[in-house]
Amino acid sequence: MNNDFPAETKQKEYKILFVCLGNICRSPSAEAIMKKLVKDAGADSSFFIDSAGIIAYHEGEPADPRMKAHAIRRGYVLESISRPITGADFYTFDFIIGMDDRNIDDLKAKAPDLESLAKIHQMTEYATNKLYDYIPDPYYSGASGFELVLDLLEDCCQGLLNRLLSS
Ligand code: 4NP
Repeated sequence: MNNDFPAETKQKEYKILFVCLGNICRSPSAEAIMKKLVKDAGADSSFFIDSAGIIAYHEGEPADPRMKAHAIRRGYVLESISRPITGADFYTFDFIIGMDDRNIDDLKAKAPDLESLAKIHQMTEYATNKLYDYIPDPYYSGASGFELVLDLLEDCCQGLLNRLLSS
């Protein structure tokens, strides 16, 4: 057990880390959508929400401009800067939520202990619309791929919030 949590996470009931491959498309969008839902629900003070990538290739970069452009049309401002997941994240966060099967496999391989393994979830676990069982990587897709990511994430984030606030 690591009690040396970052100061900003202290007192937060729900600590959620969204994870995708590069941390420039899907997980920054999930982070922004969840933050907005939580704010709109008046539950800001109970949540610490962040995102990270499996790979460090885009470390230090803002979100993909295509993803930002699609998100802003729905009122989501993507402000995150890409960073790779760290070992400490497995202790800081309660929910570590991957976007697809490959993310889940990579997260499981990185989990330092059994307690950390139990924190790993697939985003679509929280979907109310069960048409997809993963969030497709939009990086090499056209506009429809980015819109699909936002459609799926809005549904999953709402499902996650409902589940947490009713538990
Ligand atoms: P993300 O999308 O995992 O949703 O951020 C990608 C970003 C970068 C790459 C692939 C997917 N890439 O190959 O660099």
